[in-house]
Amino acid sequence: MNEKKLIVSKIANGTVIDHIPAGKALKVLKILGITGEEGYRVALVMNVASDRLGRKDIVKVEDRFLSKEEVDRIALIAPTATINIIRDYKVVEKREVELPDVIEGIVKCINPNCVTNQPREHVKPRFKVLSKKPVKLECHYCGEVMGEGEIAP
Ligand code: CTP
Ligand code: ZN
Repeated sequence: MNEKKLIVSKIANGTVIDHIPAGKALKVLKILGITGEEGYRVALVMNVASDRLGRKDIVKVEDRFLSKEEVDRIALIAPTATINIIRDYKVVEKREVELPDVIEGIVKCINPNCVTNQPREHVKPRFKVLSKKPVKLECHYCGEVMGEGEIAP
């Protein structure tokens, strides 16, 4: 790591979400439900140079670790993201986010007539991931196919 590039200090314990597509950091915070009022120390870096992406965002959250569902949600809007787990200032785990083959309960179907959009039916949305790049999802119930622009996690 080139020290000249270090914009915010390293963290002691927590999660660094790196290689987020430029401009998506606030959406990542929203997925994590972080408003700032919870008291976590958070660093947001937006639109910095990246060899791989041209520009990228970074989110660092101290003393917070992510659930599988949170990682799946992040994968939908930031498929290039890397999740780094930090313990005692060291990166002890680094993995790229990856969409699962089936997504449950995260995304809503865009078909208003779909059974998952009938509040009285209580059917949890469920999608088959047809393609990961670009993201393409098929509703398990009505067969509607949704592309990247139609997915609102
Ligand atoms: N980081 C941090 N606090 C630490 C350790 C790392 O905030 N105690 C951050 C780094 O600034 C970087 C990310 O976590 O944004 C990953 O760290 P590292 O693996 O050391 O950096 P790179 O080798 O540049 O990562 P990659 O190969 O994934 O680009
Ligand atoms: Zn549907």
